[in-house]
Amino acid sequence: MLVFGTRPEAIKMCPLVNELKRRSDQFEVVVCVTGQHRRMLDQVLDTFDVVPDCDLDIMSMNQTLFDITCHVLLDIKAVLESVAPDIVLVHGDTTTSFAAALAAFYLHIPVGHVEAGLRTGDVYSPWPEEFNRQAVDIISRYYFAPTERARVNLLSEGKPSERIYVTGNTGIDALKTTIVDGYDHSDLTWARDGRMILITAHRRENLGEPMHQMFRAIRRVMEEHPDVKAIYPIHMNPAVREAAHAELDGFDRLRLVEPLEVFDFHNFMAASYLILTDSGGIQEEAPSLGKPVLVMRDTTERPEGVAAGTLRLVGTDEDDIYQAFTELLDDEAAYAAMACSSNPYGDGRASQRIADILGCEL
Ligand code: UD1
Ligand code: UDP
Repeated sequence: MLVFGTRPEAIKMCPLVNELKRRSDQFEVVVCVTGQHRRMLDQVLDTFDVVPDCDLDIMSMNQTLFDITCHVLLDIKAVLESVAPDIVLVHGDTTTSFAAALAAFYLHIPVGHVEAGLRTGDVYSPWPEEFNRQAVDIISRYYFAPTERARVNLLSEGKPSERIYVTGNTGIDALKTTIVDGYDHSDLTWARDGRMILITAHRRENLGEPMHQMFRAIRRVMEEHPDVKAIYPIHMNPAVREAAHAELDGFDRLRLVEPLEVFDFHNFMAASYLILTDSGGIQEEAPSLGKPVLVMRDTTERPEGVAAGTLRLVGTDEDDIYQAFTELLDDEAAYAAMACSSNPYGDGRASQRIADILGCEL
């Protein structure tokens, strides 16, 4: 049974769902979505043609961590008891993943952790994701680490080496299927007559003042660079929308749009000049596309992209973001140094590897 509930989990689990389903002689696959995200999850399910067997449909407006944890934990119990899977696979670091893994643990069902071993070492950053991923790794039987560095993190915590597999990140499997030549879209046509910047932001620890500072910095830089246009597919969290509209409304070179389907978003990334984000998944995708990313966070659990030169951690202070963004727009050498493509997060075959391993282990 695969359990997931948010956009990024779906983008990274659907390739695995489809790979396991292709091997129907070996696996009976049950997909349980929690619906922690509603519309942003459904967008991804549609793109990958995945129809869940079970949908807990837990999302509420402005849900708290208590809401998500309690609803998933209570609602998934009956599903796990009736399906009685041989293994529950969860992904990454969301509260869906944490609560589903905890439920499986309470019922003595083995857990496999896809994208295991990412660490910042600070449980408050990103919050609550660093706790979630560490907690899932305490419970897990199998660890599907995306990189060698993630494997080392797990080993340093005493996880058994024979149960850690370096597979690459399944997010790159998804990315390999979405980018197309000649892609177009009306927002892209509008943005393409200048340098196009792509923006996303949503982290809970950045809600409030840090997010206002990010948006103010972006607006200041863009006001000084008339050739720059920006597309910002805005996360559905009402708190994010409030901050974005407060700081960015009325500036016509920056377009706030609804969340893009992943097929569109990946092609927007490929067409962009640079990306400003606090997202985790985008930090993994951008190196493969050779797109510079200013990461508006204080910590990252994706140091491979920083080492590859594509990512730069700029924090959430308005002046720091202003300086870094200005430098990338004005200094061609600084831009060229970051615009190099590499594949630290995998070759697009992570799902195949995980399916091979499960075929041997189960
Ligand atoms: C969640 C994950 C985070 C992940 C992010 C990806 C947790 C605690 N957080 O954060 O790790 O990086 O997803 O985007 O697991 N909403 C909608 N429709 C949607 C999705 C969200 O209306 O399709 C609104 C709802 O009001 C919801 C709010 O957004 O209450 C926040 O969603 P939530 O899943 O709680 O937090 P995220 O910030 O999205
Ligand atoms: N993404 C998308 N549409 C958008 C913005 C992002 O499909 O409008 C994709 C992006 O390519 C990446 C994932 O969503 O695969 C990242 O999700 P998010 O930033 O919400 O979560 P995180 O990765 O930070 O957990």
